[in-house]
Amino acid sequence: MNEKNYESVIQESVSAQKWWQSVPAPSRGELIRNFANALRQQKDILANQIVFDSKKILSEANGEVQEMIDICDFAVGLSRQLYGITMPSERSNHRMQEIWQPFGVVGVISAFNFPMAVWAWNHALAIVCGNSVVWKPSPKAEGCALKCKILWDEVCNDINMPEAKSLLIVILGGNEISNWLAEDRRISLLSATGSTEMGKALAPKVAKRLGRGLYELGGNNAMIVTPHANLELAKRAIVFSAVGTCGQRCTTLRRLIVHRDIFDSLINDLIKIYDKLPIGDPLDPKTLVGPLISIDSVLKMQDVLNQCRLKGYHVHGGEPLPHIDNCCVKPAIVLIHEQCELVKQETFAPILYVMQYNDLEEAIALQNDVTQGLSSCIFTDNLQEAEIFISSIGSDCGIANINIGPSGAEIGGAFGGEKDTGGGRESGSDSWKQYMRRVTITTNYGKDLPLAQGIKFDI
Ligand code: UN1
Repeated sequence: MNEKNYESVIQESVSAQKWWQSVPAPSRGELIRNFANALRQQKDILANQIVFDSKKILSEANGEVQEMIDICDFAVGLSRQLYGITMPSERSNHRMQEIWQPFGVVGVISAFNFPMAVWAWNHALAIVCGNSVVWKPSPKAEGCALKCKILWDEVCNDINMPEAKSLLIVILGGNEISNWLAEDRRISLLSATGSTEMGKALAPKVAKRLGRGLYELGGNNAMIVTPHANLELAKRAIVFSAVGTCGQRCTTLRRLIVHRDIFDSLINDLIKIYDKLPIGDPLDPKTLVGPLISIDSVLKMQDVLNQCRLKGYHVHGGEPLPHIDNCCVKPAIVLIHEQCELVKQETFAPILYVMQYNDLEEAIALQNDVTQGLSSCIFTDNLQEAEIFISSIGSDCGIANINIGPSGAEIGGAFGGEKDTGGGRESGSDSWKQYMRRVTITTNYGKDLPLAQGIKFDI
C-alpha cells in the first residue's frame, strides 16, 4: 500500500462514517445481527482459517469464532442501549444530561494470536456506536482479515446495503501502516493490541496529535495457589492457561506462585501432566499443544531457557520437537528462586516460571512485582484469602479471577489491564464508551437565565 492508496481508503472510510453516524443505532445493530448470523453459518471455514494462520488448535479456533459471535450479540443488544444519564442541575428550571455520539474512524491493529476475535471486539462495538473501521491485521494473519472482509461485504450486499461495505477497510502491511494510522488525525480512536514495545512506539505518535488510544498490550500473568486450594481444579486451570495456544495468549499463565507446603507435590504432578501433553498437528482433535507461530519464536524461547539455565534455574522440558514440526516445542516449567529481569519479561512461548511463597502478602507482592498488569488469579477456598486478593491491597491487574485461570475470559466483562498493559478496556461492560464522544447538555426550560455558582452578571 502506498501513500496515495492509503489516502484514498481513509477518505472512503471518513465518508462512510459521515453517512453511518446518522443511521439510528438499532438499525446499526441490525447490520451486526446479520453479520453474527453469517459468522454462525461460516464457523467451520473461519475456524480453519484461524488454525491455518495462527496454528492454534481447532477447538480453540472454534472458541475464537464463538467469541466473535458473542461480541456481535452483545453489540446488537447494546445498539438499543448506549445509555446516557441525567443529573440534577443546581439552577431552577434546568436539566442536565449526558448523551453519547459516534466518534469517527476507528483504527484497529490486531495481533496474530487472536487474528479475528480481537478485531471483532473492536469492530462490533465501533459499528453499533456509529463509527467506521480501518483494520490493520498482523502480517502473519492476513488470510483471517481477508476472510472477514469478504464475509462483511457479502452481508452488506445480502441486506441491500452495499454502501456499508466501506465501513470496514482492511489495510495489509507492516509497521509503516501502523505509524500512518497513529499519526493520522482522521483516526479518532486507535485501538492497538500487541506487544508493550509496539504500544510504546505508537502511543507517543497518537498523543502528539492528542488522539485517543486504546491499548491492550503485554501481560505477565500469575496464579497464586494457596494451601486452601482445590488442587485438582488448580492443575487443570494451570495447564490450560500455561500451554493453551502454545503459550501465546496475552493472558497466558506465565508465573505460578505456590505456597511452600504444597509446592513439591503440585510441581511433581504438573511435570507428570506436561510429560504426557499431546503436541502436534493443530487440526488433530487429540492435540492440545500446536506449534509456535514461527521459527523465530522457537529460537527466542530457546534463548530465554538457556539464560535460565545459566542462572542456575532448573528447566523441565522446553526442547524443540522438529520430528513433529519445525515450530513445535515441549512446554517448559522453570523453577526459579527470584524474579529476575528474565521472568519480568513477557516471552510469547509456553514457559511457566514457578516459585514458592510463605504468606499471602508475599505472594501478592511477587504477583504485582512486574511492569505488566493484565490478568491474575488465586486458587483458594478460603474466603479471606480470596477477598484480600481482589481488594485494594490485592492484585493490581485489570483481571483478577478466583478459582479460574488467568486466560479464557468471556466477552461480557471489560478486558484489559494496567501499567505496561496499556490501560485500555475492550469487549464488554462499558468499554463501548471509548468508541463514542460524550456530550454534556444543560437545558433551560425557564424564563430566567440564572448563572451557575450564583454569579451575577446583569446587563
Ligand atoms: C489476547 O490474547 O490477545 O481471555 C486476547 C482470553 C481471550 C482473549 C485473549 N478471551 O484469553
